Amino acid sequence: MEEQSSTYTTPIQKITLEQIQTEGLILDIGGGGEGLVSRIGGTKVCAVDIRISEIREAQIHRPPSNWFVGDGQALCFQKNVFDVVTLWFSLGYMSDWSIKQKVLKGAHRVLGENGRLSILGSRIPESCERLIFWGHFTFPDGTISQIGYGVSGGQEQTLERITELLSDIGFKIRFQKDNNEWFEIQAVKI
Ligand SMILES: C[S@@+](CC[C@H](N)C(=O)[O-])C[C@H]1O[C@@H](n2cnc3c(N)ncnc32)[C@H](O)[C@@H]1O
Repeated sequence: MEEQSSTYTTPIQKITLEQIQTEGLILDIGGGGEGLVSRIGGTKVCAVDIRISEIREAQIHRPPSNWFVGDGQALCFQKNVFDVVTLWFSLGYMSDWSIKQKVLKGAHRVLGENGRLSILGSRIPESCERLIFWGHFTFPDGTISQIGYGVSGGQEQTLERITELLSDIGFKIRFQKDNNEWFEIQAVKI
């Protein structure tokens, strides 16, 4: 990790994105930007983002998804309607932990029984003012996207803290992997 003033820039992380296996609906929270989930799940995806500008950016790739401008802390959906909820590199854009908690509680509410939560997140150390996470993403169809995600530092966003929060909220961790600069979690609503 390179330190200049107090901005950390990660080395490029090579990340292979998997298909999201479900017959049901997928809610992607913070789904603007590169629109990773929408580009994989297409019409099954309801993508929520708090900024219309970020939705416009994701729409450049023309995924046939459903777009909602909204705050993940106050989702406009009924309870128990989604099979899968995804937060792929969006939790880092919610720098306040009370927002992360409210958004994850919202995810729990809208998931159906045994609904699945999929999180990909960057590790954000406490000791930096800003983090730039570089990802080299390979999609299931072989498409490549190289992206830099710039987020506020100081969050101490780690795999351990997120899994602890998920357990408190009522999720069972099914899979977790620490990839040093980023982590992945698969959990189930209990
Ligand atoms: C830049 S995107 C990066 C990840 C994105 N999933 C992708 O595929 O590229 C993260 C998004 O989270 C959104 N966001 C931040 N706080 C949010 C909130 N409380 N509710 C919904 N979206 C939020 C930001 O507007 C931003 O567009």
